[in-house]
Amino acid sequence: MAATDAQPTHREEGPALPSVSMHLHTPAAPCVGTVVSSERCTGAKSQSFVRHVAIDVSGTQIARTIRPGQSFGVIPPGADEQGRSHKLRLYSVSSPSRGEDGKGDVIATTVKRTIDEHWQTHKLFLGVASNYLCDLQVGEKVTLTGPSGKRFLLPADPAAHDYVFVATGTGIAPFRGMIIDLLESGITSQIALLMGVPYANDLLYHPFLTELASKHPNFHYITALSRERQPDGAQPLYVQQRFQTHRDLLATLLASDRGLLYVCGLAGMELGIFQQLARTLPGPALEQYLRIDPEALGAIDAWERRMIHKQVRPTRRIFTEVY
Ligand code: A2P
Repeated sequence: MAATDAQPTHREEGPALPSVSMHLHTPAAPCVGTVVSSERCTGAKSQSFVRHVAIDVSGTQIARTIRPGQSFGVIPPGADEQGRSHKLRLYSVSSPSRGEDGKGDVIATTVKRTIDEHWQTHKLFLGVASNYLCDLQVGEKVTLTGPSGKRFLLPADPAAHDYVFVATGTGIAPFRGMIIDLLESGITSQIALLMGVPYANDLLYHPFLTELASKHPNFHYITALSRERQPDGAQPLYVQQRFQTHRDLLATLLASDRGLLYVCGLAGMELGIFQQLARTLPGPALEQYLRIDPEALGAIDAWERRMIHKQVRPTRRIFTEVY
Protein backbone atom coordinates (compact mmCIF):
# COMPACT_ATOMS: atom_id res chain seq x y z
CA MET A 1 0.00 0.00 0.00
CA ALA A 2 1.29 3.43 -0.84
CA ALA A 3 -0.18 6.31 1.08
CA THR A 4 0.51 10.01 1.17
CA ASP A 5 -0.49 11.83 4.30
CA ALA A 6 -2.06 15.03 3.01
CA GLN A 7 -3.49 15.98 6.43
CA PRO A 8 -3.37 17.51 8.91
CA THR A 9 -2.05 20.86 7.75
CA HIS A 10 -3.41 22.64 10.79
CA ARG A 11 -3.46 21.45 14.40
CA GLU A 12 -5.13 23.28 17.21
CA GLU A 13 -2.56 25.16 19.32
CA GLY A 14 0.27 23.74 17.26
CA PRO A 15 1.99 24.65 14.05
CA ALA A 16 0.85 23.31 10.68
CA LEU A 17 2.97 20.34 9.67
CA PRO A 18 4.02 19.50 6.12
CA SER A 19 2.56 16.58 4.21
CA VAL A 20 4.96 13.67 4.09
CA SER A 21 5.11 10.39 2.20
CA MET A 22 4.25 7.28 4.19
CA HIS A 23 4.60 3.51 3.74
CA LEU A 24 5.89 3.61 0.18
CA HIS A 25 7.71 0.35 0.91
CA THR A 26 5.91 -2.09 3.20
CA PRO A 27 7.20 -5.39 4.67
CA ALA A 28 5.40 -7.12 1.80
CA ALA A 29 7.08 -4.88 -0.77
CA PRO A 30 10.36 -3.73 0.78
CA CYS A 31 13.28 -2.16 -1.06
CA VAL A 32 17.00 -2.83 -0.94
CA GLY A 33 19.68 -0.28 -0.06
CA THR A 34 23.47 -0.52 -0.07
CA VAL A 35 25.65 0.58 2.83
CA VAL A 36 28.02 3.31 1.66
CA SER A 37 29.66 4.20 4.98
CA SER A 38 29.64 3.20 8.64
CA GLU A 39 31.50 5.40 11.12
CA ARG A 40 31.55 5.55 14.91
CA CYS A 41 30.01 8.81 16.03
CA THR A 42 31.15 8.94 19.66
CA GLY A 43 34.55 9.83 21.06
CA ALA A 44 37.11 7.02 20.60
CA LYS A 45 37.05 5.99 24.28
CA SER A 46 33.27 5.75 24.67
CA GLN A 47 32.02 2.55 26.33
CA SER A 48 29.02 2.48 23.98
CA PHE A 49 29.18 1.65 20.30
CA VAL A 50 27.15 4.05 18.21
CA ARG A 51 27.49 4.17 14.43
CA HIS A 52 26.42 6.58 11.75
CA VAL A 53 25.36 4.19 9.02
CA ALA A 54 24.74 5.70 5.57
CA ILE A 55 22.71 3.74 3.02
CA ASP A 56 22.32 4.38 -0.69
CA VAL A 57 18.60 4.06 -1.44
CA SER A 58 18.70 5.48 -4.97
CA GLY A 59 16.00 4.07 -7.21
CA THR A 60 13.73 3.31 -4.25
CA GLN A 61 10.68 5.24 -3.12
CA ILE A 62 12.44 6.24 0.09
CA ALA A 63 15.01 8.25 -1.86
CA ARG A 64 14.33 11.99 -1.88
CA THR A 65 11.11 11.58 0.14
CA ILE A 66 12.08 10.78 3.73
CA ARG A 67 12.24 13.78 6.09
CA PRO A 68 14.04 14.30 9.42
CA GLY A 69 11.77 13.05 12.21
CA GLN A 70 10.58 10.13 10.07
CA SER A 71 11.84 6.57 10.37
CA PHE A 72 12.60 3.71 8.06
CA GLY A 73 12.29 -0.01 8.80
CA VAL A 74 15.17 -2.47 8.69
CA ILE A 75 14.37 -6.16 8.19
CA PRO A 76 17.28 -8.25 9.48
CA PRO A 77 17.85 -11.49 7.57
CA GLY A 78 17.25 -14.83 9.28
CA ALA A 79 14.85 -16.04 11.93
CA ASP A 80 14.39 -15.96 15.71
CA GLU A 81 14.70 -18.97 18.06
CA GLN A 82 11.15 -20.04 17.18
CA GLY A 83 12.02 -20.05 13.49
CA ARG A 84 9.97 -16.95 12.67
CA SER A 85 11.46 -14.42 10.27
CA HIS A 86 12.83 -11.38 12.04
CA LYS A 87 10.40 -8.49 12.16
CA LEU A 88 11.31 -5.02 11.05
CA ARG A 89 12.76 -2.50 13.48
CA LEU A 90 12.31 1.22 13.01
CA TYR A 91 15.27 3.57 12.91
CA SER A 92 15.10 7.36 12.91
CA VAL A 93 16.63 8.94 9.87
CA SER A 94 19.49 11.20 10.95
CA SER A 95 20.23 12.72 7.57
CA PRO A 96 18.76 16.05 6.45
CA SER A 97 16.13 16.26 3.68
CA ARG A 98 18.91 16.57 1.06
CA GLY A 99 20.35 13.27 2.31
CA GLU A 100 24.02 12.66 3.00
CA ASP A 101 24.81 13.17 -0.66
CA GLY A 102 22.99 16.44 -1.33
CA LYS A 103 20.32 14.71 -3.44
CA GLY A 104 18.44 12.52 -1.00
CA ASP A 105 19.70 9.27 -2.48
CA VAL A 106 21.83 8.43 0.55
CA ILE A 107 20.09 8.35 3.93
CA ALA A 108 21.61 7.70 7.35
CA THR A 109 20.68 6.53 10.79
CA THR A 110 22.37 6.57 14.20
CA VAL A 111 22.51 3.09 15.71
CA LYS A 112 23.64 2.03 19.16
CA ARG A 113 24.61 -1.59 19.60
CA THR A 114 22.35 -3.25 22.16
CA ILE A 115 24.68 -5.30 24.37
CA ASP A 116 23.31 -6.70 27.60
CA GLU A 117 23.11 -9.67 29.95
CA HIS A 118 19.98 -11.79 30.04
CA TRP A 119 18.38 -10.92 33.38
CA GLN A 120 17.77 -14.58 34.36
CA THR A 121 20.46 -16.65 32.67
CA HIS A 122 23.05 -13.83 32.79
CA LYS A 123 24.13 -14.89 29.30
CA LEU A 124 25.31 -12.25 26.83
CA PHE A 125 22.42 -10.76 24.87
CA LEU A 126 22.99 -8.94 21.58
CA GLY A 127 20.16 -6.92 20.05
CA VAL A 128 19.36 -8.41 16.65
CA ALA A 129 18.79 -5.43 14.40
CA SER A 130 21.20 -2.94 16.00
CA ASN A 131 24.13 -5.36 15.83
CA TYR A 132 23.17 -6.48 12.32
CA LEU A 133 23.17 -2.84 11.15
CA CYS A 134 26.42 -2.00 12.94
CA ASP A 135 28.13 -5.13 11.57
CA LEU A 136 27.23 -4.32 7.94
CA GLN A 137 30.23 -3.54 5.73
CA VAL A 138 30.38 -0.98 2.95
CA GLY A 139 28.83 -2.52 -0.16
CA GLU A 140 26.51 -4.88 1.70
CA LYS A 141 22.77 -4.84 1.00
CA VAL A 142 20.04 -4.15 3.54
CA THR A 143 16.26 -4.65 3.23
CA LEU A 144 14.22 -1.55 4.11
CA THR A 145 10.66 -0.28 4.47
CA GLY A 146 9.22 3.19 4.95
CA PRO A 147 9.08 6.09 5.33
CA SER A 148 6.98 6.15 8.49
CA GLY A 149 5.92 8.82 10.98
CA LYS A 150 3.97 12.00 10.33
CA ARG A 151 3.84 13.85 13.65
CA PHE A 152 7.45 14.37 14.76
CA LEU A 153 8.36 16.86 12.04
CA LEU A 154 9.59 20.39 11.59
CA PRO A 155 6.68 22.77 10.97
CA ALA A 156 5.53 23.67 7.47
CA ASP A 157 6.81 27.23 7.97
CA PRO A 158 10.15 26.76 9.77
CA ALA A 159 11.06 30.47 9.77
CA ALA A 160 7.98 31.27 11.87
CA HIS A 161 9.41 29.44 14.90
CA ASP A 162 12.26 29.15 17.38
CA TYR A 163 13.34 25.71 18.56
CA VAL A 164 14.47 23.87 21.66
CA PHE A 165 15.58 20.32 20.88
CA VAL A 166 16.24 18.02 23.85
CA ALA A 167 17.98 14.67 23.28
CA THR A 168 19.48 11.86 25.28
CA GLY A 169 21.84 9.43 23.55
CA THR A 170 20.73 8.38 20.07
CA GLY A 171 17.71 10.65 20.48
CA ILE A 172 19.98 13.11 18.67
CA ALA A 173 19.27 11.29 15.36
CA PRO A 174 16.25 13.29 14.12
CA PHE A 175 17.70 16.55 15.43
CA ARG A 176 20.89 16.18 13.39
CA GLY A 177 18.78 16.22 10.21
CA MET A 178 16.38 18.90 11.43
CA ILE A 179 19.16 21.26 12.51
CA ILE A 180 20.99 20.87 9.20
CA ASP A 181 17.71 21.53 7.35
CA LEU A 182 17.06 24.67 9.43
CA LEU A 183 20.58 26.13 9.27
CA GLU A 184 21.06 25.40 5.57
CA SER A 185 17.80 27.17 4.78
CA GLY A 186 19.42 30.36 6.06
CA ILE A 187 16.67 31.18 8.57
CA THR A 188 17.51 33.36 11.55
CA SER A 189 15.34 31.45 14.07
CA GLN A 190 16.92 30.71 17.44
CA ILE A 191 17.81 27.01 17.77
CA ALA A 192 18.96 25.39 21.02
CA LEU A 193 20.07 21.77 21.23
CA LEU A 194 20.31 20.23 24.71
CA MET A 195 22.20 16.93 24.56
CA GLY A 196 22.45 14.52 27.49
CA VAL A 197 24.92 11.61 27.70
CA PRO A 198 26.80 9.85 30.54
CA TYR A 199 30.35 10.99 29.73
CA ALA A 200 31.91 13.53 27.36
CA ASN A 201 33.24 10.63 25.27
CA ASP A 202 29.65 9.54 24.61
CA LEU A 203 28.65 12.80 22.91
CA LEU A 204 27.42 12.02 19.41
CA TYR A 205 28.47 14.12 16.39
CA HIS A 206 30.24 16.38 18.88
CA PRO A 207 32.90 17.92 16.57
CA PHE A 208 30.26 18.51 13.89
CA LEU A 209 27.80 20.17 16.28
CA THR A 210 30.53 22.26 17.90
CA GLU A 211 31.57 23.54 14.49
CA LEU A 212 27.97 24.30 13.51
CA ALA A 213 27.56 26.34 16.69
CA SER A 214 30.75 28.28 15.98
CA LYS A 215 29.51 29.15 12.49
CA HIS A 216 25.90 29.99 13.37
CA PRO A 217 25.30 32.47 16.22
CA ASN A 218 21.61 31.46 16.27
CA PHE A 219 22.50 27.80 17.05
CA HIS A 220 23.18 27.06 20.73
CA TYR A 221 24.73 23.65 21.47
CA ILE A 222 24.44 22.81 25.18
CA THR A 223 25.67 19.48 26.57
CA ALA A 224 24.81 17.74 29.86
CA LEU A 225 27.02 14.99 31.29
CA SER A 226 25.25 12.77 33.80
CA ARG A 227 28.21 10.87 35.26
CA GLU A 228 31.08 13.32 35.24
CA ARG A 229 31.67 17.01 35.82
CA GLN A 230 30.86 19.45 33.05
CA PRO A 231 33.78 21.04 31.16
CA ASP A 232 33.32 24.17 33.31
CA GLY A 233 33.68 22.10 36.51
CA ALA A 234 29.97 22.02 37.40
CA GLN A 235 28.48 18.85 38.96
CA PRO A 236 27.06 15.99 36.83
CA LEU A 237 23.51 16.71 35.70
CA TYR A 238 20.62 15.49 33.62
CA VAL A 239 19.76 17.31 30.43
CA GLN A 240 16.56 18.86 31.79
CA GLN A 241 18.57 20.71 34.46
CA ARG A 242 19.85 22.88 31.62
CA PHE A 243 16.49 24.67 31.78
CA GLN A 244 17.78 26.06 35.09
CA THR A 245 21.42 26.70 34.18
CA HIS A 246 20.45 28.25 30.82
CA ARG A 247 17.21 29.77 32.00
CA ASP A 248 17.73 33.16 30.35
CA LEU A 249 18.23 31.73 26.88
CA LEU A 250 15.68 28.91 27.06
CA ALA A 251 12.87 30.66 28.93
CA THR A 252 13.13 33.67 26.61
CA LEU A 253 13.12 31.44 23.58
CA LEU A 254 10.12 29.42 24.73
CA ALA A 255 8.18 32.37 26.14
CA SER A 256 7.75 34.01 22.74
CA ASP A 257 4.81 32.74 20.73
CA ARG A 258 7.31 31.35 18.19
CA GLY A 259 8.69 28.63 20.49
CA LEU A 260 8.48 24.88 19.84
CA LEU A 261 9.92 22.12 22.02
CA TYR A 262 11.09 18.76 20.64
CA VAL A 263 12.07 15.87 22.92
CA CYS A 264 13.69 12.62 21.73
CA GLY A 265 15.32 9.83 23.71
CA LEU A 266 14.71 8.10 27.04
CA ALA A 267 11.08 8.18 28.19
CA GLY A 268 12.28 8.94 31.71
CA MET A 269 13.35 12.47 30.80
CA GLU A 270 9.88 13.58 29.76
CA LEU A 271 8.62 14.09 33.30
CA GLY A 272 11.79 15.90 34.32
CA ILE A 273 11.51 18.27 31.36
CA PHE A 274 7.87 19.06 32.14
CA GLN A 275 8.79 19.77 35.76
CA GLN A 276 11.55 22.12 34.67
CA LEU A 277 9.18 23.93 32.30
CA ALA A 278 6.73 24.39 35.16
CA ARG A 279 9.51 25.76 37.37
CA THR A 280 11.15 28.08 34.86
CA LEU A 281 8.45 29.44 32.54
CA PRO A 282 6.21 32.27 33.68
CA GLY A 283 2.49 31.33 33.83
CA PRO A 284 1.25 32.58 30.44
CA ALA A 285 4.28 31.09 28.66
CA LEU A 286 3.87 27.78 30.49
CA GLU A 287 0.27 27.49 29.32
CA GLN A 288 1.48 27.43 25.76
CA TYR A 289 3.23 24.13 26.46
CA LEU A 290 1.48 22.43 29.36
CA ARG A 291 -2.10 22.39 30.59
CA ILE A 292 -1.77 21.66 34.30
CA ASP A 293 -4.53 20.94 36.79
CA PRO A 294 -4.48 23.61 39.52
CA GLU A 295 -3.75 21.16 42.34
CA ALA A 296 -0.81 19.70 40.38
CA LEU A 297 0.61 23.16 39.74
CA GLY A 298 1.13 23.61 43.47
CA ALA A 299 3.08 20.35 43.85
CA ILE A 300 5.56 20.17 40.97
CA ASP A 301 8.17 18.20 42.94
CA ALA A 302 5.62 15.44 43.58
CA TRP A 303 4.70 14.90 39.93
CA GLU A 304 4.84 11.30 38.69
CA ARG A 305 5.07 9.88 35.21
CA ARG A 306 1.51 8.54 35.30
CA MET A 307 0.24 12.16 35.54
CA ILE A 308 1.41 12.94 32.00
CA HIS A 309 -1.60 13.32 29.68
CA LYS A 310 -3.89 13.40 32.73
CA GLN A 311 -3.14 16.17 35.24
CA VAL A 312 -0.20 17.42 33.13
CA ARG A 313 -1.07 17.64 29.45
CA PRO A 314 1.44 18.74 26.80
CA THR A 315 0.03 21.01 24.08
CA ARG A 316 0.83 20.56 20.43
CA ARG A 317 3.82 22.85 20.75
CA ILE A 318 5.67 19.93 22.37
CA PHE A 319 6.75 17.09 20.11
CA THR A 320 7.92 13.91 21.81
CA GLU A 321 9.50 10.73 20.53
CA VAL A 322 10.52 8.74 23.59
CA TYR A 323 11.24 5.07 24.19
P1 A2P B 1 22.56 7.98 33.46
O1 A2P B 1 22.71 6.75 32.61
O2 A2P B 1 23.84 8.49 34.01
O3 A2P B 1 21.49 7.85 34.50
P2 A2P B 1 22.81 6.88 26.64
O4 A2P B 1 21.62 6.57 25.78
O5 A2P B 1 24.05 7.17 25.85
O6 A2P B 1 23.00 5.90 27.75
O7 A2P B 1 22.47 8.28 27.33
C1 A2P B 1 21.30 8.49 28.03
C2 A2P B 1 21.52 9.64 28.97
O8 A2P B 1 20.27 10.00 29.56
C3 A2P B 1 22.46 9.31 30.10
O9 A2P B 1 23.25 10.42 30.40
C4 A2P B 1 21.50 8.96 31.23
O10 A2P B 1 22.06 9.16 32.50
C5 A2P B 1 20.44 10.01 30.97
N1 A2P B 1 19.18 9.74 31.67
C6 A2P B 1 18.75 8.59 32.27
N2 A2P B 1 17.56 8.76 32.87
C7 A2P B 1 17.20 10.05 32.66
C8 A2P B 1 16.08 10.85 33.05
N3 A2P B 1 15.09 10.35 33.76
N4 A2P B 1 16.07 12.14 32.67
C9 A2P B 1 17.10 12.66 31.93
N5 A2P B 1 18.18 11.96 31.53
C10 A2P B 1 18.24 10.68 31.90
